[in-house]
Amino acid sequence: MKPVKVGICGLGTVGGGTFNVLKRNAEEITRRAGRTIEVVQVAARSNNPLCDTGDVPVTDDVFAVADNPDVDVVVELIGGYTVARELVLRAIENGKHVITANKALIAVYGNEIFAKAQEKGVMVGFEAAVAGGVPIIKAIREGLAANRINWLAGIINGTGNFILTEMREKGRTFEDVLKEAQERGYAEADPTFDVEGIDAAHKLTILASLAFGIPLQFEKAYTEGITQLTTEDVNYAEALGYRIKHLGVARKTEQGIELRVHPTLVPVEQLLANVNGVMNAVMVNGDAVGSTLYYGAGAGMEPTASAVVADIIDVARTLETEPGERVPALAFQANALSDYPVLPI
Ligand code: HSE
Repeated sequence: MKPVKVGICGLGTVGGGTFNVLKRNAEEITRRAGRTIEVVQVAARSNNPLCDTGDVPVTDDVFAVADNPDVDVVVELIGGYTVARELVLRAIENGKHVITANKALIAVYGNEIFAKAQEKGVMVGFEAAVAGGVPIIKAIREGLAANRINWLAGIINGTGNFILTEMREKGRTFEDVLKEAQERGYAEADPTFDVEGIDAAHKLTILASLAFGIPLQFEKAYTEGITQLTTEDVNYAEALGYRIKHLGVARKTEQGIELRVHPTLVPVEQLLANVNGVMNAVMVNGDAVGSTLYYGAGAGMEPTASAVVADIIDVARTLETEPGERVPALAFQANALSDYPVLPI
């Protein structure tokens, strides 16, 4: 089968991770995708020391990737709204599939982007935009597709959860932990987005749109951050049998869909109260399935790359096959994935 040719725009934490995962797991990825995935161009302003691009051509012009006739899939990992929006729209206009980890872009300009993608018949993947490596988009869109969703609630900002956990467990100050979150590559370029709840509101907007089948409406999300919380607040909550968790909640009411992000007192025996550090968790309640829970690393280089690469594989599986070739997703079921023996009992 023809390879799928990828252009990666942005070689920061997530871009570097995506490049590395594609390279390291090439064999497994090829088998699952049903074809090879080749990175044919990278756009980056500077080198990422954690990532060796080898002989892949590197440009500093992201639009060169969007216009490259050899590229099938543009992976947008530059962040921000302005250039990212232009880049994504241009790539779609050029008939390319787009994958992005940019929650701000999807939450604010997603309606425009999806309309354009529909018009051009291309895919837009954004699994990495919500909850890092947790496949919550695929869970809502695929696994829970039979349900009427009643509500969803979760911890969807890793930086904020890391700060609250460290304040509670180690008595560290807010500023000290935020600095560490930035050093670890968890925080946004502008960390105000994390600590003021904006990043969580972007993600909640996306989840609600998928869960309830509504247009993206970021401006309707009530947004409150964690900057007013002190170590004393965190400790008093604990003494009363609660944990302060920064939750995003989307709930269907008789009047409409309620969207809110704010610190919440969660009883310590609840699952969400025990989600610590950079971990994220989202509970989704559907009429048929009841409550379900999705948990995992909400930020970081390879967890987020895991979601980006999953979207690339999705695109690869849906690309046209030559006459006589099998549909890749089905071929994956039929083909043995590896030669590992199953151990005897
Ligand atoms: N700054 C984000 C977070 C990155 O901390 O959750 C992942 O979206």
